[in-house]
Parts: sequence; structure tokens; C-alpha cells
Amino acid sequence: MLLSPISWLALIATILCIIRGIYLDKWATADLRGSGPHEAHWNREDPNRWTLNDGSLEIGTEPDNIFYFVQISDLHISQFQSKGYTIHFLHFLKSILPAISPEFVVVTGDLTDAKDARRITSSQHVVEWEVYQKSLEEAGVSDGWYDIRGNHDCFDVPQWSDSANMYKDHAVSGELLEKGQGVYEWELEKGSGRYQFVAFDACPKRGPSRPFNFFGYMPAKGMNHLANSIIGKEGDKSYNHTMVFAHYPTTTVAFGVSDKGYTYTDLAKQFSVYFCGHMHKLIGGLGDELKGYNAKTHSLELELGDMKDHAMYRIVAVDHDLISFVDVELPLPQIPFSTPEIPKVVEGKRLLPDKIDMPPVVLITNPKDARWILQYKEPVARIVQSRALRFLVFSGENDPKSLQVKITIDGIVHPYPAQYKGKGDPNGIAKGYMPLWISEWDPQNFDDREEHVLRITVTDSQGRKGVDESIFKVNGARIDINGGAGEWIIWTKFSFSLKLCCLVAISSILAILLIPKIYSDFTPPGTERQCARRPILQRIHHLSNEPKTLANRIRYHVWLWTLRCIDLPRNSPIIWTGTLTYTLMLISLPWFKGEFIPVAQNSEDRYGLFYLSGIRLSGEWIPLADTWMFALFELTFGLAAFVLVWIWRATDSADLRCSGTSRIRTLNERAWFKALVVIMWLWRMSEVLALGSFYGGFWPTLVQNIIIWWLLFAGICIASGKDGILARPSTKERISAIWGRCSICHLNDEASEEADVRRSLLDNADEDPGSHSSSSCSTNESIQGFNAVKIRKSRK
Ligand SMILES: *[C@@H]1O[C@H](CO)[C@@H](O)[C@H](O)[C@H]1NC(C)=O
Ligand SMILES: [Zn+2]
Ligand SMILES: [Zn+2]
Repeated sequence: MLLSPISWLALIATILCIIRGIYLDKWATADLRGSGPHEAHWNREDPNRWTLNDGSLEIGTEPDNIFYFVQISDLHISQFQSKGYTIHFLHFLKSILPAISPEFVVVTGDLTDAKDARRITSSQHVVEWEVYQKSLEEAGVSDGWYDIRGNHDCFDVPQWSDSANMYKDHAVSGELLEKGQGVYEWELEKGSGRYQFVAFDACPKRGPSRPFNFFGYMPAKGMNHLANSIIGKEGDKSYNHTMVFAHYPTTTVAFGVSDKGYTYTDLAKQFSVYFCGHMHKLIGGLGDELKGYNAKTHSLELELGDMKDHAMYRIVAVDHDLISFVDVELPLPQIPFSTPEIPKVVEGKRLLPDKIDMPPVVLITNPKDARWILQYKEPVARIVQSRALRFLVFSGENDPKSLQVKITIDGIVHPYPAQYKGKGDPNGIAKGYMPLWISEWDPQNFDDREEHVLRITVTDSQGRKGVDESIFKVNGARIDINGGAGEWIIWTKFSFSLKLCCLVAISSILAILLIPKIYSDFTPPGTERQCARRPILQRIHHLSNEPKTLANRIRYHVWLWTLRCIDLPRNSPIIWTGTLTYTLMLISLPWFKGEFIPVAQNSEDRYGLFYLSGIRLSGEWIPLADTWMFALFELTFGLAAFVLVWIWRATDSADLRCSGTSRIRTLNERAWFKALVVIMWLWRMSEVLALGSFYGGFWPTLVQNIIIWWLLFAGICIASGKDGILARPSTKERISAIWGRCSICHLNDEASEEADVRRSLLDNADEDPGSHSSSSCSTNESIQGFNAVKIRKSRK
């Protein structure tokens, strides 16, 4: 073949490294794939199971067939933070929980903060767990409390049985979770309904300290347990609703496949709602509506804001099998912004603060808000046959009669009075409390397929107000959530997209490095030995003299960048080789060694290797999508950005303009651009140094680290090399300025001897090692050209 040995070498190395990369990825994610046949999806779709109205049950005026529970998330109990954090949680326990008296409470992870005072490194602190345990004790919480781990609860935890796994000994559901090997469930029977609740733990089995511990995953084993709970062994269980609780939104979990072939989608067809936390509210209000409806599985995913900063909690009510919820903020104005003392467990001292007043909280249960309707899973036909509007009112007041209720539908005051139909007292942990209010209505009046807005405002004796709104349709049809960015985030499959983006980035970089190299190597047989770049250069010169229409500009730039890509391996072979080598190392070798779990006893549990596809620790893989997230940043700013600079610099700008015309510096030759490149380099360097501060300092994280070696190489290339900040302008540039004629355009049309001599002089004068032979095809050719001129001259 006509390829040069270098190209052959590069091609073979690339193929081998890609094979190795694929092998590593399969190996790292082996735990996610079940042992069974993968086609055996669960296809028992049985819409009749949820068949809507059996006619026997009517939504009436009695406090029956209704229950409610509470979800809180991301407490982040901290021994260092004096604003929010622990304080919010304690106020919730003291003042909110007793007034609500729910059936049960679920805490969806991040119970403790587990960070140091400067919030950089992370490890489990027993004092934080003691606060959690003791505060529940003081609040008199005994049963009806379920908790699961979040990523913060497994920062720096070598494995489940390790004493650093403080959740196991200090949380309420530690034993349950251990027995169920990461999954536990409980049931509730209310009236004619049976309900199932399943909580699962998607934390890494070996928890690195932060920051590479943001994503979760469910290996095949975990999926087996989850499928067992949700689908049942032989479909023996039948529940009116199954609800799932997890810390991570599904977009941040890599779900495996169970041994029987069940995927997350198979399970989601069976449950109704997935409750989670973890995202807090993201930034800039982006996360206000992290809620989504999956039309394929007919399930809802509802993320809840954090307790720590946003002081959020959620009440979920199931009324005649219609699920409604409301997300509420603690009465923040009553909570001191900052406390002088951070709550800690001290002998003989109370943790719980003084009681604060709770404004009324309203939760409409009938008619249910149409945005959250679960098609085929809820008996929506009950709405049009219902006899009353129903809503729950929670307030700090003991006497419901002191509350004022105002009901409007579409802004018009509802003609029927609101009546308290509740039972029981909100007294600590009293069961059987049901603060139900109703108001009679005639749903037929609104049965016009249109959306209507029901608004209920409750005012207590102190004048504090609580409001809830339901956008409903009497026919029970769904309407769009319109959650904007938040809804989009919930359904992007973030962990999967990250991987995809990385693969696209790597393939593009490899293509940009290899294809031009092979192309310029290739000389069609039979034609004279000539290179690929001269015709392109001619086109560029030609286009630069054409009228500057948009189409011409685009064409000009396409050719220009093509030329630059071809020039990179020709003009900067060392940079090209170094870049290709680094790219191949990224897919086939560990990136760095780090002390991922500092608390572990022996060094093989402490130190791990970071690979693109996961972290390898103690002979096991942790396939966290965190590696892909880090890789995407590194590939974009630490590699692709430099490749862009290399390519930009590859072609001499002196080549681009007809000499004689005033030379315009290209962007990359300007001082500010070079300064920008240096800043970018410094920024990348500081990021790698930060890695060291997270994972073990100078040795091993900074020395056994290919990123740092690459950056040193890149630094040298930026400083010297072609167009480097220390490099002199090439001789050719100076000469072409002197002679003032173009060696490219005038090549064919001006066959004068003078031009020939000039051209050959120009070609040979190029003694700059970095840019040698950039205007002709090879040194050989230009020498031949020069000789030809001499021969012709002597003939004369
Ligand atoms: C629960 O499901 C059963 C069987 O489908 C049904 O008869 C019953 O009405 C449901 N209960 C409630 C509260 O909707
Ligand atoms: Zn959190
Ligand atoms: Zn979290």
C-alpha cells in the first residue's frame, strides 16, 4: 500500500487501543448485565388490572379510602454549617411532623453531609449520625419512619459491612436494607386498597469520597431484588398502587438488567410513582420542577427539593386511588437565618428547638390535578361521578372550626360551603388522624373537556394563609406538565448521554488526527508525485480574491480548515504524534491513581485506578458515570481545545495571502489569543492539581497521572513549536514580504522565469524546522524544481 510507515503504525495502534477500550468497558459494566437471556422482557401488560371504575366505590363525603404520607430528602445534617442544614430538619421534626401526623415518613437519602469544614474533602462523621439518631428519638419517632442512603452517606465508605458505613448502625432502616440486600418494602391496607412501597439503595458498593461519587447504579443483583419486590415472584401480589423511593433521579442511575431480563422500563410499567431527591433544586431555579411523566410506562417521577437549603417537604395523599401531592416549604421567616450554636448531641441538652407556628397547608385530592394523572393506573372515572370536592388541611391550630376556607373554580366562588369531615387529633404520633374537608359539587357542570382551575385558600385565626390549586379535567384526561428544563432533565438519561458524548468526542478527535494524515499520504498511482495541499491552497487563494459573499466565506473556511488539518501531521509531526498517543492512552489505560477511599484499612482498598469506564478498586469495578462526566470535561477542555489550537497553528498564515497584498494576521497569531491559550493551560493545570487535593496529594495522584504529563507536553508545545509564544516568525514570511509576489497564484498564469526563480527561492529559503516544506510538497520536489530552473537558465 501507499501509506507511510507512520500511518500504518498509527492505524494499527488505534485499532488495538479501541479493542482494548471496548474490552475494558464490557468488563467494567459486567455487573450491570444479568446472567439470563436478555430478551425476556416483562410483557404482561394488563390494562384491566387498573380498570377504572368497578362502580362499587364512589368518592363521597366520608373520610374513607384515603391516606397520606410525607417525603423529605437531602437533610445533610452537618457539624459545621450553622445556616439551614440540621436546623431545618429539627424544626421539621418539632413543629411540622406532629401537625401532619402522616401514615409514615420516607427520607430519600443524604441524611448527613459528610464534608469537612471547608466543604472540600468528605468522610463519615459519627457526630452527624448521632444528631440524626438522637433527634428522631427526641421527636418520639418510633415506627413509620423509613430512610435510605444518598451519595453523601456513602462518601468514603469501603463497603457495606465497614464501620464507616454509619447508616447501617445509626439510621432507622439499616437492618431492613441489609436484609433485603439494598431493597426493602412495606405495605399498607386502607379501606379496600392495598398499597406497596419499595425503597432501594443505588449507592456504589464501594463509595469513593467526593467528587467522583455523584451518580448511582443498580447492578443485576440489585435489579433481581427490585424485580422481586415490584413484579413479584409469580405475579401473586396485586396492589392498588406500588410506589418507589430512591435517592437518585433515574437520569443519574445506570440501571442494570435482572437475571430474568427485567429492565428499569419493565419495572416502571408496574409501579405508579418514583419519588427521589438528590438534585436539590439545581441552580438558578432550573430544578424547580424536576418532575416528569413517562408516557411509555405511565409512571411519574417526582424529585423533591432538599431540606438542607430549601427546607422542602412533600405530602402525598392517595384518595380513592387517585394520587395527589403538594411540595411545601418550612415557614422560613420564623426560623433564624443563622444559629449561634450548631446542634450537636450533648448530654442533658435538648436537640429539638422551640416550636414555631405552622401556616395552613392545603392538599386537594379531588378533583385531582390533571398534570399528574397516571393513565391506566388510576381510576380517573371516579372524578366525574364524585359527590364532593375533597381536600386535606394541615395546620398548627387545634380547632378546625377556627379555619376559614375559600373555594373558587375558574375564579368564581363555589356556591357550596366547606365542611370539616375529619377525624382524630393531630397529637404527636397519633394514628387515625384525617384532616379531611369537603364541599359538595356537581362535576357535570364542568364536564366540557376543558381545563378548570380549582383554588382553595385556608386562613387560620392568626391570618396565616395556605393555598392549593388543581388544574383539573372532569373526564380524567392528562394534560402536559410543561415543566420546561426540569422535566427535560428528568428524561434525558444523563448518565447514558454523558457516555455517548464522550464517545463522539473521542471518535471526532481520532478522525481529525488520522484521516488527513492518511489522505495526504495517499498518492494516486500513475500521477506525478504531488501532495494534496497545493490544489487546496490554490483554491484558498482563489477564494480570497472572490467577492466576499456568505457562500464564498463558508467555502473559504471549509478549505482553510481542511488545509490546516492536513498540515498538522506535516508541519508539526511531534505535536501530532503526542496528541494521538495521548488520545489512545485515554481509552486504553488508567488515567490516574488516586486515594479514593482514604478511610479504608489496607492500601488496595484505599487506592484505585481511574479508567474511562469506571474506577477499579480492590479488584472490583465501580462503574460510576462520574468517570464519564469528568472525561467529558477533560476531553473538551483538556484535549479538543488543544487540538484546535494545534490545527489552527499548523498552516503558516503567510501561505494564505498572496504576498504583496498586505498580510493579515490570523486570530491565533495575535497576542491576546496566545494569552488565552496560556490561561486555558493554567486553568486545566489547576483542575488537575485540584484532583490531587481530593485524592491523595502529590503522590500518587499527580505523578501517576497521564493528564499531567500531557499538560506538560502541551505546555512545551504552546511555548515553543510552530507559532509558539517563544518561536520566531518563519524566514519564509520575511522573504515573501520582501519579494512581494505570490508563489501560489502566479504559478500557472505567470510562467516567467523571474517567477520561477522566486518560487524556488521561496521554497528553499524555508529553513524554519517547524514549518519546513509547508509551501511545496516535499523538500525533494522543491530541490528538483530549483534544479529545473537552473537547467532552464543554463540552456539560455
Ligand atoms: C383497589 O383495587 C381493588 C381491585 O382492583 C378495587 O376493587 C378497589 O376498589 C381498589 N381500592 C380503592 C381504594 O380504590
Ligand atoms: Zn443532597
Ligand atoms: Zn445526593
